[in-house]
Amino acid sequence: MFYRIMRYFLFMLSPEKAHEISIKQLKLTHGTLLDMFYRQKVQDRPLTVMGITFPNVLGLAAGLDKNGECIDAFGSMGFGHVEVGTVTPVAQEGNELPRLFRVLESEGIINRMGFNNEGVDQLITKIKESNYKGVIGINIGKNRATPVDEGKNDYLICMDKVYQYAGYIAVNISSPNTPGLRSLQYGDALDELLEALKERQTELCKKHNKYVPLALKVAPDLSDTEIESIANALLKYKIDGLIATNTTLDRSMIQGMSHAGETGGLSGRPLQSKSTEVIKKFALHLHGKIPIIGVGGIDSVIAAKEKINAGASLVQIYSGFIYHGPKLVKNIINNI
Ligand SMILES: Cc1cc2nc3c(=O)[nH]c(=O)nc-3n(C[C@H](O)[C@H](O)[C@H](O)COP(=O)(O)O)c2cc1C
Repeated sequence: MFYRIMRYFLFMLSPEKAHEISIKQLKLTHGTLLDMFYRQKVQDRPLTVMGITFPNVLGLAAGLDKNGECIDAFGSMGFGHVEVGTVTPVAQEGNELPRLFRVLESEGIINRMGFNNEGVDQLITKIKESNYKGVIGINIGKNRATPVDEGKNDYLICMDKVYQYAGYIAVNISSPNTPGLRSLQYGDALDELLEALKERQTELCKKHNKYVPLALKVAPDLSDTEIESIANALLKYKIDGLIATNTTLDRSMIQGMSHAGETGGLSGRPLQSKSTEVIKKFALHLHGKIPIIGVGGIDSVIAAKEKINAGASLVQIYSGFIYHGPKLVKNIINNI
């Protein structure tokens, strides 16, 4: 009920302003009496995925708390893991405003944020301040100014810095808003990247005496052949997890709806079945050897269950959380 009222007022603002204010409010209210409006008890339902114990099946997807400013507040809503980022080696502003749009008719969101973030060092400062007991995933990317063929170095720079602070590291090569980034999903570029990341993981594991799993985050806009070849590369390089999926460029589900013509990635309910299909196809090729974190359009317990039935071991939400608030978190955790 409280979130419904909050949402009414927030949706009168531009999406980006609403986001900014919400993050500020969460930062200010967490740990005070006012956090009773979102703090909630959820059932303890631990499960082990990628060798790590998660308190429950649900996580916050990357992009909502890019700079790790509200990790504890999201933890108090019940999220078993919080994926912060995408962060890049150097802070960057992202694309010009407006860059975030609500597709109200279908509970969708279109964004072309372009990895606006305060940089990896600032994120680490925030993580050090956090008291969160769940798992922190750190999602890493490359700066826009770094040419795609040198992109690997940006991932390695971030990996070196975040390794000791991460529960797992998510490698984002699937944002549609950094020119050329998705080309890292294919052929030799993918092989080269995964080989380098795996090598670095081995070195860092020795150095820190801690194994931090690596998960690759992919787009939903992949052909069957592309899915098969990415799956084979994940198996070849023994990557620990797959996060499927990021936002889609496909607009077929929202023809004629508001903002359908905006450039960027579409998320939320219009993405739901597409991402589930991608998870099913990956599951077929991965033979249960690499766990899948399912994300894309989850807006109910049923939608979360569909992801699990498709082959996901954990699930994440972003857009569904914007439209439904903390109640969705509790519903999913307690009913799966
Ligand atoms: C405004 C916005 C910003 C996002 N930023 C990131 C990001 O920085 N890194 C990333 O890997 N995914 C990002 N995502 C994608 C989400 O993590 C998620 O994969 C996608 O939105 C599908 O889930 P959903 O339908 O529950 O929103 C972003 C999504 C939105 C809506």
